[in-house]
This record gives sequence, C-alpha cells and structure tokens, in this order.
Amino acid sequence: MLKAKMEKSDNVAKGRIRFWFFICASLVLSVSLFCFNFSALIRDKKETQFKDPYILGFSPQKPHLLLSDTDLDVSHLTTWDDDLSSVNRSGVRETGTRSIHSDKSGVKDIDDLPIVEDGSELITSHANGEKAGRINKPNEESRVTAVESSSREDTSLELDPCKDKYVYVYDLPSNFNSDILKNCKAISLWINMCHYLTNMGLGPRLGGSQGVFTVKGWFATDQFALDVVFHNRMKQYKCLTKNSSMAAAIFVPFYAGLDVSPYLWGYNTSMRDSSALELVKWLAARPEWKVWDGRDHFLVAGRITWDLRRTTDEDKDWGSNLMELSEAKNMTMLVIESSPWHGNDVAIPYPTYFHPSTDNQVFEWQNRMRRLRKRYLFSFAGAPRPKLTGSIRNHIIKQCQASKKRCKLLECNRGGDKCHHPSNVMKMFQSSTFCLQPPGDSYTRRSTFDSILAGCIPVFFHPGSAYVQYLWHLPRDFSKYSVLIPEDEVRKGKTDIESRLRSISAMQVKAMREEVIRLIPRVIYADPRSRLETIEDAFDIAVEGVIERVKKAKREMLEARPYDNDANEEANNWKHEFFGTTEKHEWDHFFSKKIVNSL
Ligand SMILES: *[C@@H]1O[C@H](CO)[C@@H](O)[C@H](O)[C@H]1NC(C)=O
Ligand SMILES: *[C@@H]1O[C@H](CO)[C@@H](O)[C@H](O)[C@H]1NC(C)=O
Ligand SMILES: *[C@@H]1O[C@H](CO)[C@@H](O)[C@H](O)[C@H]1NC(C)=O
Ligand SMILES: *[C@@H]1O[C@H](CO)[C@@H](O)[C@H](O)[C@H]1NC(C)=O
Repeated sequence: MLKAKMEKSDNVAKGRIRFWFFICASLVLSVSLFCFNFSALIRDKKETQFKDPYILGFSPQKPHLLLSDTDLDVSHLTTWDDDLSSVNRSGVRETGTRSIHSDKSGVKDIDDLPIVEDGSELITSHANGEKAGRINKPNEESRVTAVESSSREDTSLELDPCKDKYVYVYDLPSNFNSDILKNCKAISLWINMCHYLTNMGLGPRLGGSQGVFTVKGWFATDQFALDVVFHNRMKQYKCLTKNSSMAAAIFVPFYAGLDVSPYLWGYNTSMRDSSALELVKWLAARPEWKVWDGRDHFLVAGRITWDLRRTTDEDKDWGSNLMELSEAKNMTMLVIESSPWHGNDVAIPYPTYFHPSTDNQVFEWQNRMRRLRKRYLFSFAGAPRPKLTGSIRNHIIKQCQASKKRCKLLECNRGGDKCHHPSNVMKMFQSSTFCLQPPGDSYTRRSTFDSILAGCIPVFFHPGSAYVQYLWHLPRDFSKYSVLIPEDEVRKGKTDIESRLRSISAMQVKAMREEVIRLIPRVIYADPRSRLETIEDAFDIAVEGVIERVKKAKREMLEARPYDNDANEEANNWKHEFFGTTEKHEWDHFFSKKIVNSL
C-alpha cells in the first residue's frame, strides 16, 4: 500500500520533471527556430527585388491563422510536380515521386499544428435543399413541360435574374461529404489534410511572405482541395433553388477526390470503388435523376481524371472506376485534368493560393503584377522524370542551366526544400517573363495556374497541358496568352528554348503578358465566405459552363437524338471540343497514345 503510494508520488515527481523539461526544451527550440528563420529572412531581404513592407506574416487580429509559409510542411502543395498522384503509365504508381515527398527531412510535423477555428464550418453539413422536394413526374411529359414552361417564362419572368441559372443541390447522406472531413486525418498518407481543409477548404492563411503576396486573400491551399472549396462556393451561389424542377443543373456534393484519396495506394478495387458505387445507386433511385436520366447532374472531383477512371477490375490498375460507371457517363464531372478521349469530364482550373474576398483585392493584385520588373526570361520549377521514358524534363532542365542568367531553375529533387514553399515558387514566377510547363506524370500541372496568377506567360509543350483542357476558362486562341513548343522538337534537340523565346518581339510579349494578367480572375476561386461583385471567378465560369452543357444535353434528349455513346467518336472528344470537327489535324500525334499506357 505504502509502497504503491510512494511509487505514485515518485511518478508524479518524475512527471513534473518531464513536464518542465519539455517546456524548457520547446522554448529553446522555438527561440532557435525563430532566430534561424529571421536571419534567413534578413539575408533574403537583401537579395529580394520586391520593395514591399509585408516582410513578416504577423497579423494583429488572428496571429494563429497567419502562418508564414515557411512554417508549414507544404511539400504536397507542389506546384512544380504533379504531386503524389503520379500515374505510372503501365497502370501502377511510380514510387519515385513518392519518396521525393515523403523523404523531406527537417520538416516539422504539422499534425501538431492547431486546427483553425473556421474548420468547424466545414463539418456542418449544408442545410440547403429540403428532403426530397416535390418533383414532377419523371417521364417524357415532364421533360417537355419543363422546357415549355421555361420558354413561357420568357415573358412573365423577365425580371428574374436567376432565370435559367438555378442550381439544385442534393442533400446527400453525410458519408459522401461531411464525414470525409470529420475523418480528414485519413485522407492523405503523407500529410494531415485536416490542416489544409480549414478555412472552408482554402487552408491556413499565408502571411505576406517577403512581400511576395499581398496582405489579404492568400492561403496555403492544397491542390486537391477543390471538392470542398467548390461545395462551399456553391452554398453561396446566388441562384440556388429548393425546387429541382426549376433547376438548370443539379449539383451532387460528393467529395469524389477526397473520398478515393486514402485508397489509391495499396487497396483493392472494391475498397476504391465502394463509395462511387454507393453514390450512383443512391442517385439512380432519386426521382430527380429520372427526369433527365442524370444528364443535368454534375459533381466535382478535385483530382485528375485518371484517379477515377479505371477501366478494368484488376487491382494493379490505377484509381477508382467512378467515371466509367454507366450513371457517371450521363453526368458531368468537373476535374482538374480531364481525359482527351472521354466526354463525361470537363477540366476546371487547379486551385491557386489566392482566394480574394473583394473585387479590389483582385484589381490590386493585377496592377501589382503589371508593374513588376521581370529579371529572368524564363524559369522552371520541377523535378526531372528519369524513370519516365520520353519525358522532356531533363532536356528542359539542361537548357535552363545552359541559359545561365536568363533562366531561373528551382530544382525539386535535390532535397528541394525551396520548392516546397508557395512564396519561393510564386516569387520566381513573378520575376520571370515565361514559365515552362512541361507535362509531368500527367499532362497538366497546378503550376500553370500559379504562373498565370504571377503574370508569367506559360510555355506549353503539349496541347493536352491546357488548350484542350480548360476550354471554359482559357481563350481558344492560345497564342494570345501562351507559347507552344512541341515536345518532339525539344526531345530531338531541334528547338533551343531560349532563342525561341527571344525571337518573340517585345510588343508581342507585352500583349501576351497583359492577356495573362487579364485572365487572373478567371483562374482563381474566390473566398467562399464572401462574394465578389463584378468579377466572375473560376467557380462562376464553371457553373455557367455546366448549365450550357446541360441545356444542350436536354435539347438533344428532346429531339430524341440517339445518345452519342460511340467509343470511336468519344476517342476524338478532344478534337471535337477544341476544333468542333474531327478532321485530321497536326496535333493528332500528341493524342495518338493513351497516356495511361504511354509517355
Ligand atoms: C510501372 O510499373 C510496372 C509494373 O510494376 C513496372 O514494370 C515499371 O517499371 C513501372 N514504370 C515506371 C516508370 O516506374
Ligand atoms: C417547382 O417548379 C415547377 C416549375 O417551375 C412548378 O410547376 C412547381 O409548382 C414548383 N413546386 C413547388 C413545390 O414550388
Ligand atoms: C479488399 O480489401 C478489404 C480490406 O482491405 C478486404 O476486407 C476485402 O475482403 C477485399 N476484397 C476483395 C474482393 O479482395
Ligand atoms: C443514361 O442516359 C441514357 C439516355 O438518356 C439512358 O437511356 C440511360 O438509361 C441512362 N443511364 C442511367 C444509368 O440512368
């Protein structure tokens, strides 16, 4: 008894000693970290060409929300690399990329960072949309009346600014969205996504690191956070309806990207597919579905299409089969990279770090990008792909190195910690006239949008990297805002990137740069907690795009045109969408092999 008691007090004493030791140790650690960081900043300040007062990310109001990005483990926010989700083209993931990201030494574990308070907003499931509202009879007749009544409304409802814009949002069972957020620790194998899904999916606020960013509107946004950001924007959409028969489109707030994310590595197909199957079963049983066979339904998956487009039942093949389900083929899936050979997905921009809450924040940013002096002709942030046969990244890195002072390289493989901070990458893009955007593990890169945001003219090497992807958001006349250097020419050593870029006249460069800056509002997602006044952001444009697409699908159904499900026809989808024809084109060879099996 006594012994036990003594042991207990002994334990208490030991516990106290441990406690104080821990406090002292963390004090020493934080002081040294602070000094280290600070000296780095001072050193950096001398070099920096930005004369901006926002050196440190301290804010008087909410200091815990304002992290300088140097405080974060941002390895997965990669703008240079197509992230952890690299597709090994034979259907199996490459392990190389993974090790780049998981082997970062000396990076703090963000598991211990506090979750910002706004996080709670995320898990309140959205209260919009009543339970199974009254629906018109799901048959041909109701289709006709729906269209008729909308044309009749032309006169009577002229004053309704939402006419033909209404969106109905399903009240999905919580396992399709809010539960995924409650379980956010499971989303990523490498990082604590709970942290990056705070602030309605925008992530923790970024301070004005070394003057790279403006004071407001910057967040350490994960490139896969769009499921949540989009849903939260939708809750603010000005034309929501609770009456599905008034809706121009029906939104399915399933977090398809976050849902599959934990199962992409090392799980069998039944684990990867289970939510997708459950979802389509739920949808197909809804009266809202039957009205248009789901052709007016859409969802957002903030991942590349290949993560959701497995065509076989073999475990070794990549991704889930969501996109290949027959219900999904009738829907519109918004993804950050679509398939050139399929018709049911449409690409929308990757999220960037900028999420303004007022029009003025955007104008201020655009003006600032106009005034910047460009120190480098071109730049590249990324890692080589030594294991990827045919990758041109090595050529690009070599050419950049050979160009000495005209090209700035941010190499992401050599302990590339520099690459892992939004401010480093954004600063480099801001100081460059052109930003090289070669394909990586897939055609597209987040980096493209970060470079546009920085007023840097993107240089593409494959039309699949943007032109045939973001048709709603980027101008079809791609030469107005970008340069295309076919990858073959680089691979064969036929093109010298530097001289090609130097051959563009100063006048042309000026016009292109202005066009890029003009595009900024179209490629950013505004803060879901506020509403921009005159500016249409990437979300607004995406919703308009969906509504137009649905209108066309409904028209086709009413005209009883056979539903175009011809696989050969679909294989030419990229050409049809971009050129409006499927005639022979000089780009054909770019799309002759499916990326999953080639490259
Ligand atoms: C992809 O996976 C296959 C099968 O495991 C393997 O043989 C191949 O070397 C991998 N390719 C790359 C580029 O890693
Ligand atoms: C829903 O909208 C349709 C078509 O505009 C209308 O006929 C119907 O009465 C509305 N239902 C409800 C419950 O408001
Ligand atoms: C798939 O994996 C899960 C758990 O990882 C297991 O319970 C299930 O039986 C597996 N299914 C098949 C068909 O192998
Ligand atoms: C998809 O649409 C077609 C044509 O409208 C229809 O025949 C088919 O039943 C729909 N599929 C599902 C699963 O609803």
